[in-house]
Amino acid sequence: MEVERVQEIASLSILKDTIPPEFIRSEYEQPGITTFTGPVPNIPVIDLSKREALVQVIRNASEEWGIFQVVNHGIPEKVIKELQSVGKEFFELPLDEKEKYAVKPGSFEGYGTKLQKEPEGKKAWVDYLFHNVWPPDRVNHDIWPQNPPSYRETNEEYAKHLIRVVDDLLEILSEGLGLEKQVLKESVGGDGLEYLLKINYYPKCPRPDLALGVVAHTDMSAITILIPNEVPGLQVFKDDHWFDAKYVPNALVVHIGDQIEILSNGKYKSVLHRTTVNKDKVRMSWPVFCSPPEEMVVGPLKPLVNDDSPPKFKTKKYKDYQYCKLNKLPQ
Ligand code: SIN
Ligand code: FE2
Repeated sequence: MEVERVQEIASLSILKDTIPPEFIRSEYEQPGITTFTGPVPNIPVIDLSKREALVQVIRNASEEWGIFQVVNHGIPEKVIKELQSVGKEFFELPLDEKEKYAVKPGSFEGYGTKLQKEPEGKKAWVDYLFHNVWPPDRVNHDIWPQNPPSYRETNEEYAKHLIRVVDDLLEILSEGLGLEKQVLKESVGGDGLEYLLKINYYPKCPRPDLALGVVAHTDMSAITILIPNEVPGLQVFKDDHWFDAKYVPNALVVHIGDQIEILSNGKYKSVLHRTTVNKDKVRMSWPVFCSPPEEMVVGPLKPLVNDDSPPKFKTKKYKDYQYCKLNKLPQ
């Protein structure tokens, strides 16, 4: 059988100190060539316990960067550490154990590796696990790992805390647009907002200068909240450069996704980002994509559209947006 999982390919590559050609990015993508090496501006780090001026600080970060890190978010360190530890334990299981959870045709949930190559025939240095975590009617526990045994409880505990943080952020972002605080959440589905967890596993890579973990993209979600491990690798595109994001212990990384960019009629930016990999350390990350239900119609919010500020985006069902994005069709 062909070796498909990057984790397996990596263990063979380490021995040879090279990577297979389909992982070698073209020159305009190679991190060794395209990463900015001058003084790097920092992604804003925002203290959520300081309520004063928070609306303005988050509005500025969302307009200028489309990404920020939050500290003092109220999710206990222990909950985050446990989430990371059960995810790591899953990826350290033998391959045939993990394959029991392999993504099945017609579904996107499960353990996997992007098998189809990108247009230029390139592949990404990452394996993943995907499953919904909220709301309950969207969760299928059959595809959650049984091993380690505390996987389910740990993930449910994290989801519970995360929902509170997302609710807070949506209120603050709504106020930053000059709207009532409930407007943004209602516009992304209210309590029907869907939380999809991805665990990214980036194996050690003998040539991190030539490969990419996740290729450049914006998230199609409304908002994405990510926990990284301590190995840096996230890069953000701003002012025509790729900048490394700093690892901030205990911070959550908040990405503005396409749906909030659309609702805000372009005031908030959906951030373009990618990830690099590491020669000596495994990188992992736990993004949760918070997205509208598929039938939800999303477009620029009425109060933000006028003669001076015409709609910059089409209004359409989220499932149609998703279809176009996944199939690389124009929106
Ligand atoms: C992603 O954008 O899918 C991953 C980002 C990260 O691993 O930091
Ligand atoms: Fe992303």
